[in-house]
Amino acid sequence: QEPAAVGAGSVKQQLSKLVIASLRTTVPEVEVDPMVEVCTAKFGDYQCNNAMGLWSRIKGSGTSFKNPNAIGQAIAKNLPPSDIIESTSVAGPGFVNIVLSNSWVAKRIQGMLVNGIKTWAPILPVKRAVLDFSSPNIAKEMHVGHLRSTIIGDTLARMFEFSNVEVLRRNHVGDWGTQFGMLIQYLFEKFPNWEEIGSQAIGDLQTFYKASKNRFDGDAEFKDRAQQAVVRLQGGEERYRAAWNKICEISRNEFDMVYKLLNVKLEEKGESFYNPFIPQVLEELNNKGLIKESEGAKVIFIEGHQIPLIVVKRDGGFNYASTDLAALWYRLNVEKAEWIIYVTDVGQQQHFDMFFNAARMAGWLPDPKEKKYPKTNHVGFGLVLGSDGKRFRTRSTEVVRLIELLDEAKSRSKSELLQRLTENGKIVDWTEEELEKTSEAVGYGAVKYADLKNNRLTNYTFSFEQMLSDKGNTAVYLQYAHARICSIIRKSNKDVEELKMSGAISLDHPDERVLGLYLIRFAEVVEEACTNLLPNVLCEYLYNLSEMFTRFYTNCQVVGSPEETSRLLLCQATAVVMRQCFELLGITPVYKL
Ligand code: ARG
Repeated sequence: QEPAAVGAGSVKQQLSKLVIASLRTTVPEVEVDPMVEVCTAKFGDYQCNNAMGLWSRIKGSGTSFKNPNAIGQAIAKNLPPSDIIESTSVAGPGFVNIVLSNSWVAKRIQGMLVNGIKTWAPILPVKRAVLDFSSPNIAKEMHVGHLRSTIIGDTLARMFEFSNVEVLRRNHVGDWGTQFGMLIQYLFEKFPNWEEIGSQAIGDLQTFYKASKNRFDGDAEFKDRAQQAVVRLQGGEERYRAAWNKICEISRNEFDMVYKLLNVKLEEKGESFYNPFIPQVLEELNNKGLIKESEGAKVIFIEGHQIPLIVVKRDGGFNYASTDLAALWYRLNVEKAEWIIYVTDVGQQQHFDMFFNAARMAGWLPDPKEKKYPKTNHVGFGLVLGSDGKRFRTRSTEVVRLIELLDEAKSRSKSELLQRLTENGKIVDWTEEELEKTSEAVGYGAVKYADLKNNRLTNYTFSFEQMLSDKGNTAVYLQYAHARICSIIRKSNKDVEELKMSGAISLDHPDERVLGLYLIRFAEVVEEACTNLLPNVLCEYLYNLSEMFTRFYTNCQVVGSPEETSRLLLCQATAVVMRQCFELLGITPVYKL
């Protein structure tokens, strides 16, 4: 962990500190959390909303305050002196409006340029988190649902990491379970020499999976042998382990190709990893009286749920839920994570609800009313739809091959780029490598941004035309906006690295001030996106920022004006913040487009 910088934390966090100090003087008899928000009215930049709530708590208790407005006045008066605040005013029932000092805002921006944007990282209340995301199933296809999980999970991981939280990125692959009996048995029978011919025997795993499933469904004797095979695999018999390993390896290589294209880092700890811990975990739950018999299975009854959570199946086997309980136990006790986050489609919400509840019943998680951490969250997301409004699939196959999807995004963005460059006669300025790198950044970035920009719970419609359009709220538009700022700076022929040390920022024009205030909100936006696990909050910020920049640039002449130095530094600060947003969204920014 890096040491906290002076004045660390978001603006909101810094104002909150001042408000806490004021509240201690104003109402020493009560303890309340500071309520600081961005101001919705014109009268301030931020506001403190504590007065009204305080009034309802202390009125009639012999307080000398006459009304909430008087409390607001006192809160404002008792704010410790600080160079952050220019002035305050109290409105209506006690809202304390706070106007920030222009020179403080300017200094904060310049400080970021000099010391790096990392000094704008928010302070989060946890040190270590587990992010369980992507998590496809071995030998089955990695579908668009897994793509969403990969994109959303990676962004959350990046935002936490930026905020100095240690993130354990976990790929909870489905690599254990009855389907392996079927796959292994099929491999043995169909390719007795599988060890020599290796991956060629299995070839395309999805086809292999289908063939073995057909056999399994249509041949009762094979089914029996497949079930035996599971037992032998789980008993650790060597030949079965080897075949299992081979199958996992082929899948893993396919998954890794997608991760590589998306530049996503993950550590695989699949279901099989937690399998040895299940018996002891279930024993603990049993000793706590949570496990009951029901119709031959072992279950946990959970308040508010019609059906119980099955933890041992009728045939004595473990399942998804028992594995998740063991994994949670491991993450809490061995990995000592304070926040454990699972990214899957909303369809699995009930599963997570139930097993989080079971963990609470076991006393693994505190009552949220008493203590906040450790805690668990399910980050659910909606479906990916095709243009026909149905579940997304490509013309030829029922499933969408993710690699092909990403390739298409790249090649479409490349041909659009080429067309535009040819029209402008600018194609000569580009090397082949630049073209490749740019179309990758734009194409993959477009897929990611289209996924992230809406609230994750809503379904989203996959459309190359839309996501690759250079108009509206798209990654392409934002890449252009960023590249344009870079080009403004380049064309000024000034060295911003030098200017940021020697020059100063001033925010006298109203559009400069609006842009400056929005820039310094960056930290609290990241904080909010992390706290509520909502990447779209950051997308919205990035889009608004580019709009505010446009307004500033339209109304304030930069190059050749008396304010040139200050304004170039504002351009640079905007570019730096935009780049950091891209980075956090897993999108590679481009400097020229
Ligand atoms: N393999 C599961 C699926 O494809 C997702 C696993 C999510 N993680 C978890 N710990 N349950 O649906």
